[in-house]
Amino acid sequence: MSNIQQQLLDFSARFNAKLPALFAKPNGHEKRVVEAMEYSVLNGGKRIRPFLTTQCAKLFGKDEDFAFGAAVSLEMLHTYSLIHDDLPAMDNDTLRRGKPTCHVAFDEATAILAGDGLLTYAFEILGRTMYDSEVKAKLVTALSQGAGAFCGMVAGQMLDLYAENATNVEEPLDLIENIEKMKTGCLLKYACEAGAIIGGADEKSMTALQTYARKIGQTFQISDDILDACGDQQKVGKTLQKDAAQNKLTFVSVLGLDEAIKIETRLTDEAIDALEIFGNKAETLKDLARFIITRDH
Ligand code: IPE
Ligand code: IPE
Ligand code: MG
Ligand code: MG
Ligand code: MG
Repeated sequence: MSNIQQQLLDFSARFNAKLPALFAKPNGHEKRVVEAMEYSVLNGGKRIRPFLTTQCAKLFGKDEDFAFGAAVSLEMLHTYSLIHDDLPAMDNDTLRRGKPTCHVAFDEATAILAGDGLLTYAFEILGRTMYDSEVKAKLVTALSQGAGAFCGMVAGQMLDLYAENATNVEEPLDLIENIEKMKTGCLLKYACEAGAIIGGADEKSMTALQTYARKIGQTFQISDDILDACGDQQKVGKTLQKDAAQNKLTFVSVLGLDEAIKIETRLTDEAIDALEIFGNKAETLKDLARFIITRDH
């Protein structure tokens, strides 16, 4: 196992250990929705986004505990996006993180509410953190934009569904780039921005991290598409070959496998170049960029 994989696993273990405390159950029958939220958040996951936030904050001398509030709120929000992505009305998926999807393990209405609950909880957690008021305001604004309907994750999910049913798309590469930038790229960009915001980054550092994030956002979705097309289901933990079956517009369907691999290799080099201003402090982020395109899950 590579060093970065081990680092990610060690981080996940520390991160996961702190999660159960965040899911205190109410006494009444409403506890079912909290159980569904907890099931989905504790249900594995690579924790790439919280790891990114933590590593970016570290560049500015902030430690893992300090980054936790920003990191965990993002993971809550990300998990909501997965629960809703898997719903019958969306990708209609039955397997997530190697386990039955939320609506299969519970029921569809509970899964919708669990997503709503996690989205809201993300902002409650941010509100309760010890960051300065100004920092909190910046985080809330950036997270709402990244997750939102105007040009964030929700907008990307809308375009993804549009593309599934569209006939004769004239510029499919432009469309898939737009879909990816919003549905996946925005939250990965926020992951890095959040670390920079809590670290008090100057403009130059923020821009460098945003450039890095933009590039790895794209490689992350390209590799997700490649894994869907030719990954090992046991390792990926999701039903594979669904994109083609559902007529999804993906980097693989538009570019073909070879070209998709070529592009992600170029983007990874560019992501690494963007970190030069941080010198050897950014080695872990560089390794993470390389891991994203070689991952098997
Ligand atoms: C899956 O994200 C959804 C995409 C944006 C492609 P991840 O691959 O990070 O999923 P988990 O969190 O590890 O399950
Ligand atoms: C979903 O993209 C991205 C989200 C906003 C959740 P996919 O639909 O490709 O993600 P997977 O493959 O189901 O994880
Ligand atoms: Mg989807
Ligand atoms: Mg999906
Ligand atoms: Mg996918």
